Amino acid sequence: MEEKQLYEGKAKKVFATANPDEYRVYFKDDATAFDGTKRGTIINKGIINNKVSAFFFNLLAEHGIPHHFVKLISDREMIVKTLKILQVEVVVRNVAAGSLAKRIGWEEGTKMPMPVLELYYKNDELHDPLINEYHIQAMGLATPEQLSEIKAYALKINDILSAYLKTKNVELIDFKLEFGVHKGQVILGDEISPDTCRLWDSETKQKLDKDRFRRDLGNVEDAYREVLKRLTGEVM
Ligand code: TMP
Repeated sequence: MEEKQLYEGKAKKVFATANPDEYRVYFKDDATAFDGTKRGTIINKGIINNKVSAFFFNLLAEHGIPHHFVKLISDREMIVKTLKILQVEVVVRNVAAGSLAKRIGWEEGTKMPMPVLELYYKNDELHDPLINEYHIQAMGLATPEQLSEIKAYALKINDILSAYLKTKNVELIDFKLEFGVHKGQVILGDEISPDTCRLWDSETKQKLDKDRFRRDLGNVEDAYREVLKRLTGEVM
C-alpha cells in the first residue's frame, strides 16, 4: 500500500498511514551539515539512527518520558504518533563543544559546571537562531506551560541518557531534542541518534557522532556502528 508522503527533511521522510493517529518515518543515509551546504552519504546511517532512536525512546519511556515512538517496522522505518512539532529546538550541553565553545570562548572539551539548556528557533531560512524564552513567548512558539514542560523533560532526559551512556563508556557531551503536541499533550518527537548528539568515548574522548562527518575526521560509518554496538550489542 502506497501512503502519501507528508514531508521530506534532510535525513528523514514522513508518510501518512491508514491510522490517522500515526505516521511512518523512513530514515535516509543522506547527511548534511551547515544548513545543507555540506552534503554526503553515511552508509547505513538510516538503519543505525532508526535503531538507536528506538532504543533511546524505549529507555526514556521506562523513566516516564512521553514520546512519539510506537514501533519499528523495518530496518529503516518506525511508526510514530502524529505530532504537531513545536518550532523550538532544545539543546542540552554537559561539555563545551561546537557552537557553544565558539560562542563563549571556552575550549572544546571543557566540562560545564552545570547542564546548560539552550533554545533555538527551528527555521532553516534563518539558520535556526539561538533565542530565549521571551522570544518564544512573543512569537507564540509555545505556551509558558508547554515551555516549562519541555525544559523539565529535556533536563530529565539529559540525566537518564548521561547515566545510561556512562555505563557503555560513552560521554554525552550535548544533544538536540524536538517536541510536539499530540492530542493536547507535549511529547518528545524527532530522533535521538549520533546525528543529533555528541557522543565521546569516555576514556579516549574519541568522537562517535556526526562531528566526524561535519569536520571530515574519517571513519564516520565505524563511529555510527560502534554506537549501535555499545547500546544494543548489534554488530553491523
Ligand atoms: P551545535 O554545537 O552545533 O550548536 O550543536 C549542538 C547539538 O545539537 C549537537 O549535539 C548536534 C545537535 N545538532 C542537531 O541535531 N542539528 C543541527 O542542525 C545542529 C546544528 C546541531
